[in-house]
Amino acid sequence: MAVAAPRLAGQDAEYLAHALFMFKAGTRASSIMQPVARTLSDADMQAVAGYFAAQHPPVVAQEQPQGDEARAGAQLAQFGDGTGVAACFSCHAAGGRGNGARFPSIAGQPASFTVARLHEFQARAAQGGAKPGTMTAVAAHLSEAQIVDAAAYLSTLPR
Ligand code: HEC
Repeated sequence: MAVAAPRLAGQDAEYLAHALFMFKAGTRASSIMQPVARTLSDADMQAVAGYFAAQHPPVVAQEQPQGDEARAGAQLAQFGDGTGVAACFSCHAAGGRGNGARFPSIAGQPASFTVARLHEFQARAAQGGAKPGTMTAVAAHLSEAQIVDAAAYLSTLPR
């Protein structure tokens, strides 16, 4: 499945600049973003990150997820699963709007982007050494159904 591009508008500027920096350094993989980031200077990265962070367009209508997935995803995002997985919003703030440079907004992203990012974190977790409290550690505990549910729900949220 093709992975949709993430929504950048309204994302935290520092988080975005850091993501570009990681693409350029090769510590975050993407065959699409790495060649782009390599052409950017540090100043370019700050500028482009600031540009997107300042945008507040309305969320475009997304594909409506199936009711059951979105409901299960809402439960997980708000309350966690009661065993290994903490509520997504405990770190990413109410509505998934994000909290500062460390906790990006996860609201309003295409579901395929969220699924792909969570798989990326899981792949990193499988290499071992995920620090507690990081997204890599969170992802290690997610089942495939939880990933699909969370992604479906988050795609419906405004940013
Ligand atoms: C313990 C705190 C914590 C919890 C709980 C948490 N996250 Fe995260 N999450 C993070 C941090 C920190 C990052 C940034 C990591 C990075 O970019 O390397 C992140 C990044 C992400 C990203 C990537 C965003 C982007 O734009 O690239 C997604 C998607 C995500 N989280 C989804 C979730 C979902 C879904 C849940 C609930 C199942 C969740 N998170 C729970 C801390 C948390």
